[in-house]
Amino acid sequence: MPQIIGVPKETAAGEKRVATVPEVVEKLIKLGFAVRLQSGAGDGANCSDDSYRAAGAEVVATAAELWSGSDIVLKVGVPTAEEVGLMREGGTLIGFIWPAQNPELMQQLAAKKATVLAIDSLPRTLSRAQKMDALTSQAGVAGYRAVIEAANAFGRFFNGQITAAGKVPPAKVFIAGAGVAGLAAIGTAANLGAIVRANDTRAEVADQVVSLGGEFVKVDYEEEGSGGGGYAKVMSEGFQQAQREMYAKQAREVDIIITTALIPGKPAPRLITAEMVQSMKPGSVIVDMAAERGGNCELTEAGKAVVKHGVTLIGYTDLNSRLAKQSSTLYATNLFRLAEELCKTKDGVINVNMEDDAIRGLTVIKDGGITWPPPPVKQAAAPRPAAAAAKPAEKKGHGHGGGGGPIPAKALAILFGVGALAFWFIGAYAPAAFLGHFTVFVLACFIGYMVVWNVTPALHTPLMSVTNAISSIICIGALVQVAPPLQDVAGRPGGWILGLAVTGIALTAINMFGGFAVTRRMLEMFRK
Ligand code: NAI
Repeated sequence: MPQIIGVPKETAAGEKRVATVPEVVEKLIKLGFAVRLQSGAGDGANCSDDSYRAAGAEVVATAAELWSGSDIVLKVGVPTAEEVGLMREGGTLIGFIWPAQNPELMQQLAAKKATVLAIDSLPRTLSRAQKMDALTSQAGVAGYRAVIEAANAFGRFFNGQITAAGKVPPAKVFIAGAGVAGLAAIGTAANLGAIVRANDTRAEVADQVVSLGGEFVKVDYEEEGSGGGGYAKVMSEGFQQAQREMYAKQAREVDIIITTALIPGKPAPRLITAEMVQSMKPGSVIVDMAAERGGNCELTEAGKAVVKHGVTLIGYTDLNSRLAKQSSTLYATNLFRLAEELCKTKDGVINVNMEDDAIRGLTVIKDGGITWPPPPVKQAAAPRPAAAAAKPAEKKGHGHGGGGGPIPAKALAILFGVGALAFWFIGAYAPAAFLGHFTVFVLACFIGYMVVWNVTPALHTPLMSVTNAISSIICIGALVQVAPPLQDVAGRPGGWILGLAVTGIALTAINMFGGFAVTRRMLEMFRK
């Protein structure tokens, strides 16, 4: 029996997003699920009941019918106690939960014997989990919208213009914090033609800022701000002092400041003081994206746009709802990718596989048992911290580079014995011409192994261009075998050499063309 996926109307005030959109309903149905929707759920995101019906969903009138009749409920906002009350016992819930902040909700859901997948708990450093990363997709939309809000409140063009009526200088935008939202804001403001500057405590983001058309402004103080997993840490008092001086200088120079600084589990760092606001030109704008967590600016009022000292301070906490269709579509796609992972058999029945790192991280309650917090993820896409890199001796002992578990000493000894015997046999009996080629082959295998195995998974895609080049060399060798000079009839290869060469060409061609396709897609991401 296929399971029923239910999508209720969001109940939080001002929430316009919906957990699935008609285009995604079709895909969920192809995965074998039946989809049910509460009437009006998509209204805020411009998706009518009829469009859901046309995509194959059943529309029900009330929240009670929806919650009690669904095996799996997809939601955006944290569910209320009433909603949990309506939930079917033993049902599954997927959405934002924030388990650390909502212990009571966790208890209620556990009492319902529910299975709960908190999309906010996805291990973000796992590269294969990126397609499901709703925090990233939503922050990207919000960063874009922050710039649009700033442009709306700002009285001038973003781009510089020379018109008959005079010369207009480009607007200067400063972005504090270059995480997901910050980078989206940098790209959007640069595309609108502004001069964009940005700062972040994590020096590693400087290149990304530049690649999006911004200028990275450094704090004149040596301290690394990375707290691991792509997040920041709280900085020393000395750094904060130097940062305040730099921000004060920027505030005097720029027209717009967008703040996105966040340290997980901590209140938003205070970066923009009342004096800095006062020092800005009249008509300037500050968008404080961290308003909900206390604000990066001292004068922000959460949820409101206010004017203080002639500067418009925007503290909207619903930037995603202000772009509801886009946010909902991306969120729905994240949840669909998760559904694919949960239902690999495509029969409309989910399997919450706790052996899978990504699924384990997401699952905060399994069949009524609280499974949050999860154990640390084994494999991270982020570069290894220096401490891990400083233990080469331990690695050598395992006899291999990066991945997999250690090979037992006995098995290793047998492997070496068999290998040595094979080499002795080849050395003693193989013809001299073969030995030359064989030596090159063994060295090539060794170098290939060292190159690929010692590389962090996140870097495998760039590495493909290198393996591409190696494939091309193999391909040339194989082509020479297949087509020797025409007059050299005696040199024509025998049947099995020809077969091997053709197979070699076919296999390397997959790698070459695949590599070029991936490289093209990566380059496309940077094209305007
Ligand atoms: P993120 O973690 O990807 O980025 C935050 C960045 O701030 C990191 O790069 C970090 O290194 C940097 N940072 C931390 N402390 C800093 C400091 N003292 N100085 C300079 N940089 C510092 O977070 P993400 O996803 O980009 O979200 C950013 C903010 O936007 C969060 O506060 C989030 O809650 C908020 N947000 C607000 C929305 C709204 O409607 N207002 C919607 C979505 C997100």
